[in-house]
Amino acid sequence: MEANTCKQDVLQKKKNAILVDGVILNGPITDSKAGEKFVEEACKIIMEEIIQKADDVTEKVCEWRAPETLKKILDLEMRDTGESHQKLLQLCQDVIQYSVKTNHPRFFNQLYAGIDYYSLVARFITEALNPSVYTYEVSPVFLLVEEAVIKKMIEFIGWEDGDGIFNPGGSVSNMYAMNLARYKFCPEIKEKGLSGLPRLVLFASEECHYSMKKAASFLGIGTENVYFVKTDERGKMIPEELEKQVQRARKEGSAPFLVCATAGTTVLGAFDPLDKIADICEKHDLWLHVDASWGGSALISRKHRKLLHGIQRADSVAWNPHKMLLAGIQCCALLVKDNSGLLKKCYSAKAAYLFQQDKFYDVSYDTGDKSIQCSRRPDAFKFWLMWKALGTTGLEERVNRALALARYLVEEIKKREGFQLLLEPEYANVCFWYVPPSLRKMEDGPEFWQKLHQVAPVVKERMMKKGSMMLGYQPNQGKVNFFRQVVISPQVSREDMDFLLDEIELLAKDL
Ligand SMILES: Cc1ncc(COP(=O)(O)O)c(C=O)c1O
Repeated sequence: MEANTCKQDVLQKKKNAILVDGVILNGPITDSKAGEKFVEEACKIIMEEIIQKADDVTEKVCEWRAPETLKKILDLEMRDTGESHQKLLQLCQDVIQYSVKTNHPRFFNQLYAGIDYYSLVARFITEALNPSVYTYEVSPVFLLVEEAVIKKMIEFIGWEDGDGIFNPGGSVSNMYAMNLARYKFCPEIKEKGLSGLPRLVLFASEECHYSMKKAASFLGIGTENVYFVKTDERGKMIPEELEKQVQRARKEGSAPFLVCATAGTTVLGAFDPLDKIADICEKHDLWLHVDASWGGSALISRKHRKLLHGIQRADSVAWNPHKMLLAGIQCCALLVKDNSGLLKKCYSAKAAYLFQQDKFYDVSYDTGDKSIQCSRRPDAFKFWLMWKALGTTGLEERVNRALALARYLVEEIKKREGFQLLLEPEYANVCFWYVPPSLRKMEDGPEFWQKLHQVAPVVKERMMKKGSMMLGYQPNQGKVNFFRQVVISPQVSREDMDFLLDEIELLAKDL
């Protein structure tokens, strides 16, 4: 019956057909009923295979396959004719099966983890609506949401006023800030370009995120003009060393313009002393940018916000709610203390086709010209819906619990033989070595450290091939490979911390 109606439809269309270049233009070419069914079935898979399994520790964190094997399993070839829905649903299943479950309670590998149901729904909504956040006419709700979220984040930083923009990543926020500081230093750069500028120099700690180097190279400042400032044994920038570096740059005849302090370094989770750094910036008239991509979320916690003491003195702040707060990648804001429109002045291109000044509504809501992008995702919405659902106290609880779990892990590490902390953590990064039984009696010396260097990569390989957990490792500032355990997810419990230590012992018992 259905097939008959379909056939009749086609015949009817052909009869009334309007042909252009041999193409029938009557009616749409998509089969929306079939499309809806496909979405429904795919959503069922997402629910069963991802969301319902997210807190199940009996599931694997990853199903490791070498690239060549995975290529064969996945049927990556794109062909002239489309695949059936049945085949596509199977492909969706395969993609899920062989992807890393970053929402698994034993995924401790990066500075994000876990699942937040509200930001997830927000993502479903925005994926379905497919908006682009540049003008009020196409994104009325999402622009107002972004404004409300930025206002609230500014409040937590402690500024009375300010501005901001969501953008794709902390790295990009840092780049925005660097360019903005340079624009403030020499506004004519926007029109005249780099020629004629003095050698610009910026300062960041030796523990800062690598995006500082990338931004300096991308913006034509040059990586050699990032002066790395020494850190203390806890990974914090030493203010006296910063002062020395600024003096050095001045003596060389270059033009210092920016200090990038880090609140929550990537590896050690260290917080630079912002108040003292702000004093130096004031003295030398330097822009202070705080990369709080990782540590910014501590501002939400009354207990832990002291880690960022002095942040209100910054000129700009990068803060990623997609890390500690689980707002979903990507959700990152650059916040700026200036409220005189500096962000817009620096970035606007005034495209006449998009930002017409004679629109029928208040065009100050067309905020897209503050961005380096044209199309932009409504990332603030994920954070907003989550914040609405949990309230500030719920977000605060999330931060407090992550840090309490990290503290628990630290105390357990101290009790166990073979585990050695690198330093007392301030935040959720717990860095430690595991010394397997065979190395415990060795004398401290180059051979010991060289052998210890090889332990973490082997343990990592074994955990991934087993699929039991994921945990990062790295060398850092002359220290041999050590584990970096990052505690974030609210799905994680004390038992997962115990499991982690037991599992390392088990995986390394023959090393
Ligand atoms: C301190 C710090 N800044 C910036 C970034 C970059 O953030 P994104 O990954 O969102 O680009 C990171 C990433 O881990 C980070 O730890």
